[in-house]
Amino acid sequence: MPRSPRSLLIALAVPLAAALAIVLTAPAPATADRVVIGGHPARTVEAPWTVALASRALFGEKRSGQFCGGAVVGPTAVVTAAHCLSRGVLGKDWREVRDLKVIIGRNDLRKKDGVEYPPARVWVNPAYEGDNRAGDIAVLTLGVAVPAAYTIRMAGTGDQAYRPGERAAVYGWGDTEGDGTYASSLRTATVRVLADSVCESAYPGNAEGDYDPRSMVCAGLPDGGRDACQGDSGGPLVVRGRLVGLVSWGSGCAVAGRPGVYTRISSVADLVAAHG
Ligand code: ARG
Repeated sequence: MPRSPRSLLIALAVPLAAALAIVLTAPAPATADRVVIGGHPARTVEAPWTVALASRALFGEKRSGQFCGGAVVGPTAVVTAAHCLSRGVLGKDWREVRDLKVIIGRNDLRKKDGVEYPPARVWVNPAYEGDNRAGDIAVLTLGVAVPAAYTIRMAGTGDQAYRPGERAAVYGWGDTEGDGTYASSLRTATVRVLADSVCESAYPGNAEGDYDPRSMVCAGLPDGGRDACQGDSGGPLVVRGRLVGLVSWGSGCAVAGRPGVYTRISSVADLVAAHG
């Protein structure tokens, strides 16, 4: 007797359901190996210029009060994202944060190694627009010079490090799962610099964002899976040993077709030089 269409459907549906169950219950690849999302542990010696911005008064003792990242670009100059010092992040004016610190040389935020510097001066780009998020840069000036080994060179305009396809590394202590799970130790993820056209079509100025190639650069993987996330902001994106970007924004984290957007360092290098 020929099988009825119904039983054929079930015959197909059962293996499909079984396959789905495997996909759904299999552990996500490399859960223990995720920054940054999809990343892996970084050693401070590989990225000594990666710093944490912290306030224990605002963000608690446990992870040294870390709330953003940053990068050392000169003996006393540290760059971060302007939005890290916004009311939205701090809940108050940054000038009212009495225990703002730049932490250098601490891989594990639960430990005490490295040095905590209160910034001697803070400059937040007054042109930073909350609307389209262009010019997301702030400069913290340290009162003491740090050794040259702790600094990273900024990429200039036309640097080949901005070519699409270049391999890029982002560093941070931010959310590793996209659900508020913050890293205790520094992590890094490898992504690729993307063409401006890709970023513009991902963020054409709709509710998800407005990509501005003059002041931003974006990076990610075609299928997502690796990205910066909340808490990584202000942290470095590095290509060929040069600082090319600072974690700025994105729609979700590690979502396919929604790359991470970074402050384009070459576009703010003059501002950094003037205020560092
Ligand atoms: N705005 C976030 C922060 O303050 C950074 C988000 C980066 N998002 C991304 N998908 N790359 O930490």
